[in-house]
Order: sequence, then C-alpha cells, then structure tokens
Amino acid sequence: MNTNQTSSNQDITRRSFIKTSGAVVAGLATTKLATTETLAAAGGAKTVTVSPQEITALTRWPRYGAAEKNRLHELIDNNQFYPELPLFEKEWQAYTKAPFVKAHMNGSSALTSMYFALSLDVPAGSEVMVPTYTFFSACLAMRFSNLVPVFIDVDPKTACLDLEDAKRKLTPQTKAIEGMHSWGLPCEMDLICGWAKEKGLVTLEDCAHAHGASMKGKKMGTWGQMAIYSFQTSKVMPAIEGGMGMYQTREYYERAAAFGEYGDPGRFPKDSPVRAYEGTGFGQKYRMHPFAAAVARMQLKGLDALNALVEKNVRALNGRLIQLPGITEPRCRPDQKRAYYHANMLLLDFKKLGFSRDALLKALRAEGVRVSFWDYPQQHTLKIYSEAKWWHHAPKIPEKMPGCEYVNANHIFLPLFYGEAPELIEQYAKAFEKVWAHSDALKQA
Ligand SMILES: Cc1ncc(COP(=O)(O)O)c(C=O)c1O
Repeated sequence: MNTNQTSSNQDITRRSFIKTSGAVVAGLATTKLATTETLAAAGGAKTVTVSPQEITALTRWPRYGAAEKNRLHELIDNNQFYPELPLFEKEWQAYTKAPFVKAHMNGSSALTSMYFALSLDVPAGSEVMVPTYTFFSACLAMRFSNLVPVFIDVDPKTACLDLEDAKRKLTPQTKAIEGMHSWGLPCEMDLICGWAKEKGLVTLEDCAHAHGASMKGKKMGTWGQMAIYSFQTSKVMPAIEGGMGMYQTREYYERAAAFGEYGDPGRFPKDSPVRAYEGTGFGQKYRMHPFAAAVARMQLKGLDALNALVEKNVRALNGRLIQLPGITEPRCRPDQKRAYYHANMLLLDFKKLGFSRDALLKALRAEGVRVSFWDYPQQHTLKIYSEAKWWHHAPKIPEKMPGCEYVNANHIFLPLFYGEAPELIEQYAKAFEKVWAHSDALKQA
C-alpha cells in the first residue's frame, strides 16, 4: 500500500463519515472550536454580527405590502365594503375545506358564538374541557352560555392538551372537549376525537395559533365539530383584528352565525329553524370588519409560502440546536404539519442542564441572540374562575398542573425569520454552540 493510497483512503473514509453522520459531526466540530472562544458575557467577541436593522427587518411582524394597500384603496375607491366578507369566507372555506364558515370580528367573538351554538343542545351548567394553557376568552366566553370550563393540563412534550389528564377529569356534566394548537403545533385531534366519540362529547378546536397547520392532510379546524381562528395582529395570518368560526354541520353554523349577525337568518334555507329570527339573530353584532377581511384575503394568498419559508429557517436552525445536550423541540408527529406562531419555542430541561434560564439568556443575549420566554397565564389560577358568582356553578380549580408548570419554566423563544437568513441562522447556531461549550461557567453563574 503506497502513501498516496493510504491518504486517499483516509480521505474517503473521513468524507464518507462526515456524509453519513452529517449534521451531528458538524455540530460537534463547531462546539470544539467554540470552546476556544471567550463568551461575549466575559469580554469575548459577539457571535451575532448581522446588523440589528437587518434582524429587525427579518423578524418584523405583521408584514404588509402593496397587495394589502391596493385592496384597501380599491374598497375605498369603489365605496363597496361588505361584499368583502363573503369573498373572504369563500376563500377560507376553499383553503380549509370546512363545510361551513363565518367571519367574525375576532377569535373571542367566534368562541362566544361557538359556545352559544353548543349550549342549545346541552343542559345549563354543562362542562367543557379546555387546556388551562390558553387565552382567557377560550374559557371565559363559556359563561355567557351557562357553560363551565374544566381545566386540563398540557403534555410537557407538546404544550398541547394532555388527553390522559382529560380522561382523569371527565365528569357527568362534561359535554365537550376543546383542543388548542399551541404555538402552531397541532394537538392530537385524532386521539381526542376518538376518545370524545367513545364518551359522547362534542369536539371543539381553538386554532388561533395554527393557520396552515394540518394533520393527516386535514387542516386544523376541520377535525372538531366546531372550531375558531383568530386573525389578530400577532397571529400567523394577521388582519389586525378578525376571527373565523368553522362548523361541520349546518345547525351549528346557523346558530353561531345568527348569534353575531342579525341579518343572517333571512339568508338561511326555508327549512332552517333559525330563519324565523331574521332581524334580531340571537343577540350580538360580531361580524368582521370589511377592511380586516380585505387584509386577511391578501394574507391568505401568501400564507403557505411564508409558512414554508419560516419552516425552512426553523429547520436549519433547530437542526443544529437539537444536537446540543438538553435542547428539544415540541414533539411533532410525522403526520402533523405544524405552523409557527409568534416564536420558535424550544424546550430545555434546566434542572438536568444544571444552569438557570436567566444565566442562559444572559449569555445568549451577550452573544447577540434575541431570546426570550413567556409564561402562558394558567387560566385556572386567575381570580374570575375562583368566584362562583360569575358562573352557573363554580369551576373546579385543580391544585397542580405539572405539565403547564414544566413548559412555562423550561422553554425559551427564539425569533422567527420571515426572509432568507442563512448568515443569521449560522451565527445563532454558533452562539448556542459557544455557550454550550462553556456550560460549566453557566453552572457557576
Ligand atoms: C389560543 C387563543 N385563543 C383565542 C384567542 C382569541 O383571539 P382574538 O384575540 O382574535 O380575540 C387568542 C388570542 O390571542 C388565542 O391566543
């Protein structure tokens, strides 16, 4: 064997090793290099050198442009506004394949209408299971229809409703269960629907975070018998304020629509029991603002492309980060297609890591990483649920919600990048690798 041959064999072996073990090797190599660099928090050079202006441009939200401006101008120039609502409803229906939809002024009014529609079939005081890790209106809106929340924990691996906890908390009064797709990750509606069917529960979905997300090829919002979306300004498809109700049956649709739109009953088929309520509906005026519908229509056109770009960026960054010990992503099944709302949430077991979230944030921020966290208010801990006077009967307040507590204490948020960002992603990955290489220093902080 001559020397040349040996070196070429070694080369091939090394190359094929790098190829087969790909990202793992790349991650470790960078970590090794990173140990030699001083942390920025200790006076070393900052890892992220992309300018703050560029980062702000990449993370800016919401993102409006010529399409939204032009459509709003067209509405004003034509002095025609309300036809925008059925146009948006038709487009959303075509996109999601929901049998019935109704545009609402926000997600909260869609929730209130949905609970009203449910309440006509169940006795006053019926209970609805809902994750405590959610927005207030998902629980509080029930009280207007004499429904009462049953607070359910979340799975610490997904931050979505923990079905096992729901099974433990089933009461004779429970009539419905509502899943919420936290931060864009679909909750396991197939399992929830399977169990709900067994127990005779109505299935509901809060999709305020999950525009474009699906499971087994079926859009979120079409799994539950009723569902809602929010188009509020922070959401994946923002229209400043706006909402959508989605219904699998004509009965639910007609009740929910007529709850918030006095003009709708007259448009329902002659045999509709709701048609007689023309001129009043059932009490509210909840239709979407036509300007919001115009903005939402334009946003819908770009939704899939933007979701795909965000996903590509998250994959490029997280593909590196999850190689570091102690960092995981919320579990997403292969048959789930998630969206990303607000942030790229990562789960870190700080107890196992041996350093605090504060120490980590300090080190990463010194490197130039925009990192944060946000504890979702656990609904069951808030005053209004502890006072029986607001409710048909007092909601039961669980003592502990270990899943929620874990997620709140053990997550971090990284920004979502809404443009091509290879350099920034590389620098973010390097910043983490550098900080991880110095984890002993963090443990002492
Ligand atoms: C989970 C969840 N449900 C419902 C809503 C209500 O939506 P809206 O703000 O449009 O009323 C929100 C809003 O943040 C939410 O996060």
